[in-house]
Amino acid sequence: MRAKIVAGNWKMNKTLDEGLKLVTELVNILRDEVRSEAQVVLAPPFPYLIPFGRIVEGSPHVAMGAQNCYHRPSGAYTGEVSAEMLASVGVKYVIIGHSERRQYAGETNEQLTEKVNLALQHGLTPIFCCGETLEQRQAGGYVAFVGSQLTESLFHLDTTQLGKIVIAYEPIWAIGTGVTASSAQAQEMHAALRGHVAERYGQATADRLSILYGGSVGAANARELFACPDVDGGLVGGASLKSRDFVEIVKSI
Ligand code: 13P
Repeated sequence: MRAKIVAGNWKMNKTLDEGLKLVTELVNILRDEVRSEAQVVLAPPFPYLIPFGRIVEGSPHVAMGAQNCYHRPSGAYTGEVSAEMLASVGVKYVIIGHSERRQYAGETNEQLTEKVNLALQHGLTPIFCCGETLEQRQAGGYVAFVGSQLTESLFHLDTTQLGKIVIAYEPIWAIGTGVTASSAQAQEMHAALRGHVAERYGQATADRLSILYGGSVGAANARELFACPDVDGGLVGGASLKSRDFVEIVKSI
């Protein structure tokens, strides 16, 4: 059995007061209403990781995640946050290679390799993002393209290390657009990615790998997406900012 995970990527949203209210609501509702064994990950902006971490402490299935870390271990990199710093404040997961960071911060597969290495070195679980643009999908070859994102940033890892990765397939055309991939489209890609990992690391390792879907996941479509055999949960943007929507998504697992 592989881990089922629902992760909320808050992106650059919410003030501290708004965030505290949302996290408190979430923790209370999850405790009172949700019997799911799914792992819930909350990935708010950096300044909130410590105060929110205190609120979720003691919630058995809730952990803190960061939205990014830097690709160097430490030093004169003004404004950056290292994997080691995140681990030192109790963060357990880190999103790596989100398409918004690839696009707006120009992150390359090589840098993502370094981030993955540093995250693993400090005991963080990388949630490694991949996904194609609409143009790539329409041109065909999108499965090979997304496979190459894994090859270039992850396939240097040994089997034990690869076993600690979570993958999030996020088609760029589905992010923040309200257009979600159909369950058939999600299943096609997830199965292909699992097959790609199986070719390199063997079927047993691939079978244990959690592959999340992201891109306009909401309370209305989560159940159908999560019912796909190779979809092991979701990486949720907009709907993670509303407690009721996010809880409904967690319940859909
Ligand atoms: P939306 O759920 O807002 O489409 O965002 C998805 C995403 O990018 C999560 O990382």
